[in-house]
Amino acid sequence: MNAPPIVRIEQVTKRFGSFAAVDAVSLAIPRNAFFALLGPSGCGKTTLLRMLAGFEQPSEGRILIDGEEMAAVPPNRRPVNMVFQSYAVFPHMTVAENIGYGLKVTGVPRPEIERRVAEAVAMVRLQGFEERRPDQLSGGQKQRVALARALVKKPKLLLLDEPLSALDRKLREEMQLELVRLQHEVGITFVIVTHDQDEALSMATHIAVMNRGRILQISDPRSLYERPRTRFVADFIGQVNVFDARLLDRGETGVRVMVEGLGEIEVPEREPPAEVVALAVRPEKMEVRTEGPQAGPLQLAGRIGQIAYFGDHSRIFVECDGLRLICIRHNRSRIEETPLAEGMACYVSFRPEDAVLLSS
Ligand SMILES: Nc1ncnc2c1ncn2[C@@H]1O[C@H](COP(=O)(O)OP(=O)(O)OP(=O)(O)O)[C@@H](O)[C@H]1O
Ligand SMILES: [Mg+2]
Repeated sequence: MNAPPIVRIEQVTKRFGSFAAVDAVSLAIPRNAFFALLGPSGCGKTTLLRMLAGFEQPSEGRILIDGEEMAAVPPNRRPVNMVFQSYAVFPHMTVAENIGYGLKVTGVPRPEIERRVAEAVAMVRLQGFEERRPDQLSGGQKQRVALARALVKKPKLLLLDEPLSALDRKLREEMQLELVRLQHEVGITFVIVTHDQDEALSMATHIAVMNRGRILQISDPRSLYERPRTRFVADFIGQVNVFDARLLDRGETGVRVMVEGLGEIEVPEREPPAEVVALAVRPEKMEVRTEGPQAGPLQLAGRIGQIAYFGDHSRIFVECDGLRLICIRHNRSRIEETPLAEGMACYVSFRPEDAVLLSS
């Protein structure tokens, strides 16, 4: 069964003066998705969330939540709650009072408040902290209070604007797992804004990449990483080697492309973009060898530049005829591999099926 999407954004533009912060965006968010909006600073992520929450009105287009047009619905009537970057908790209230506050002001009877607060406290695992005040909590705990406060109202849609950016790395990774668990548990659709690509890749079921007010691609994390469609998306998600390229012709099993620095290559791609401008290869798909050359066209002779050691893997930069390639080598113990060192002559190769064709 294909349930209708929980959110439908239709041709939405938001202008501040003559500047379009959000530019003709259309998208659907499926029910129960963990939907991430990813993009560089200033690309319009917060503006899009604020329109969903009702804090901003679209200049054009319309927004439907659960099938209902939102134009005339004020923020407090929308089935939506928003958690902000700087976890705004009331400093003079206890954890329990903070979480119950939204219910209290809407006149929910006291026994029900107590029951729902206890439920929300358990959800974010803050049992035993109910009577503490925010200044007696860690950053991660405060963020859990903010989450519980949003969840206690049982919204259909939870909007999270960079909810973890104030936390240090270890705590952030812990909270990422926690958010994924919570989303599974409560079955509410989450829309999270982040400019951390790893965060989006590891948490989300759907990722929308935004740039300059527009959505460039919406995919599941794996497709986004393995099959970016444009140069911007390939570059923005993870690291990548990009070669200028153009399409020569299409065949039964793939396409022939002319690649700068490599010559003609056949790529087994059945649905190449209409206009090919580049060919991309992820660093972990690049092999670095000190012996060679071997037969086969996809090989570049170069010299090893910097090597950055990361424990489980090393990042190796190779200078090839004016190109600077990045390769990843996994450091498996006990496997005999030629140790690489800066300055060594080497060959870099990749398989054509690991290449992705990009449009501009
Ligand atoms: N109220 C406003 N008036 C004028 N311009 C605004 C207003 N709000 C946002 N903008 C502009 O709209 C653009 C998008 O802003 P927005 O806050 O949505 O970006 P963002 O993607 O959330 O960025 P960040 O990652 O830095 O939070 C920016 O250029 C911003 O300066
Ligand atoms: Mg923002």
